[in-house]
Amino acid sequence: MSGFSSEIRVADEDPREGDGSFEATARIVDAGGTDDDSTVEAALRPRRLDEFPGQPKVRDQLGLVLEAARRRGSPPDHVLLSGPPGLGKTTLAMIVAAELEQPIRVTSGPAIQHAGDLASVLSSLVEGEVLFLDEIHRMSRPAEEMLYLAMEDFRVDVVVGKGPGATAIPLELPPFTVVGATTRAGLLPAPLRDRFGFTGHLDFYEVADLERILQRSARLLGVPADEDALAEIALRSRGTPRIANRLLRRVRDWAQVHGTGEVDVTAARAALTLFDVDEAGLDRLDRAVLEAMCRRFGGGPVGLSTLAVAVGEETDTVETVAEPYLVRQGYIVRSPRGRLATPLAWGHLGLTPPPGEQTPLPLPDGADGGRFG
Ligand SMILES: Nc1ncnc2c1ncn2[C@@H]1O[C@H](COP(=O)(O)OP(=O)(O)OP(=O)(O)O)[C@@H](O)[C@H]1O
Ligand SMILES: [Mg+2]
Repeated sequence: MSGFSSEIRVADEDPREGDGSFEATARIVDAGGTDDDSTVEAALRPRRLDEFPGQPKVRDQLGLVLEAARRRGSPPDHVLLSGPPGLGKTTLAMIVAAELEQPIRVTSGPAIQHAGDLASVLSSLVEGEVLFLDEIHRMSRPAEEMLYLAMEDFRVDVVVGKGPGATAIPLELPPFTVVGATTRAGLLPAPLRDRFGFTGHLDFYEVADLERILQRSARLLGVPADEDALAEIALRSRGTPRIANRLLRRVRDWAQVHGTGEVDVTAARAALTLFDVDEAGLDRLDRAVLEAMCRRFGGGPVGLSTLAVAVGEETDTVETVAEPYLVRQGYIVRSPRGRLATPLAWGHLGLTPPPGEQTPLPLPDGADGGRFG
């Protein structure tokens, strides 16, 4: 499987629905990728670190690690990339291989259920190759154990035979680099996490970075777009490049069908309204979460699973897709007793918090409210 073809191919999207991995109906600002996205996404991915806008910290740190490895002529430390969906983990994994000028092998946690699956991947790696393990938190325990031995000692024990006669044959591996990606770094067992010499946490993008991303995407897609329209889309993309690119395509659609063919502010506003993205960039699920918290649970505290049931979603979706952004923007805070709605949440819904309630203030910069309560 290759997600990094050297030729740029921009396919127009086909009418298939979302991949259903998160939910039955596709949300326009769902940060998760769909089949429709994947072809376009591959074409829109920056290929090198210096074409990658945003995430200055991770970019600088990773740049240093890769440059040093290149000068030494040996593979760098293993790299773990974590953060919410759609922020560029897969993109960065491809970039790691490109910067090292090494081939990349792509697989994922769910694809590796048996240690044997991993053994066969590992034993076919060539020296210096990058092994990209997406959704690494979803690997099985035996595979995980084999992986951290391989990461540390470049060795696997291949078990031959069954029962009392089984023997483990050690197999030396050439040095290689694992790039792991996860939306749930907290689920990785410590021994595995410790094997990664470099961990980069991707955070939501600044609006200015999203504007740069959109300008580049519009150029690659051949979509005429004015700056104000791209600024409007950037503002409403939940800090997520994948969503920004998807909204750009929907605005382009609107412009072609109802507008002048050019992505302008009129088209941007109309399309965003049509697809239920509000002025703050919150989508249907975000608003459903806030509505449930305020209207049904009086602002909280409410537990994650209760909240998920109330909005008819998987707990995982609420936790990895909706919550990080709502926390980051200061709409909700986490406390040991559950999630709480802030005055900003009440205000966003046009509601007044119940009198006498101690609703917490959002922390500056939308920092995690974990210490509240
Ligand atoms: N810094 C960036 N600059 C430009 N485009 C970006 C950037 N980061 C991500 N993108 C775009 O967003 C899309 C999604 O990024 P990517 O697939 O790397 O996200 P991800 O973090 O791997 O998501 P997931 O957790 O769902 O796998 C990419 O195809 C790319 O077009
Ligand atoms: Mg990915």
